[in-house]
Amino acid sequence: MEDNALNLPTMAPYTRHVLICTGHYCDPEGKAERLYRALPGLLGNLGRYDNPQRIKRGTCPCLGVCYGGPIAVVYPEGIWYRVPDEAALRRIVEEHLRGGEPVAELIFHRLGNSLTPHATIEGAQSHGT
Ligand code: FES
Repeated sequence: MEDNALNLPTMAPYTRHVLICTGHYCDPEGKAERLYRALPGLLGNLGRYDNPQRIKRGTCPCLGVCYGGPIAVVYPEGIWYRVPDEAALRRIVEEHLRGGEPVAELIFHRLGNSLTPHATIEGAQSHGT
């Protein structure tokens, strides 16, 4: 076994990562925190640390959209969703994360392929990266 001289962290296997923005610019009603707290229950076994198929989850103070949220992104696909409520989040978990089929009507952007011809929404200002 090789020494980890740099004391690098280790990572358990996972297949996808979901990030939910909790910033108030895209989510002035503060729905994102509740959605994030619902995620473990919706993921069930897919959220378990010891499941090699696991879906990692996290929050972020800004994802650089800042309008029209709550907003979530799923990697590695780079699929960006508007998640208006828990029913929408449930669909994303069941259809995309479990079933492998992204929920087309909730997608507003795909990495490398904008679905919105005017990707900068009028009046919107990004407050992050
Ligand atoms: S505050 Fe949510 S994307 Fe910027």
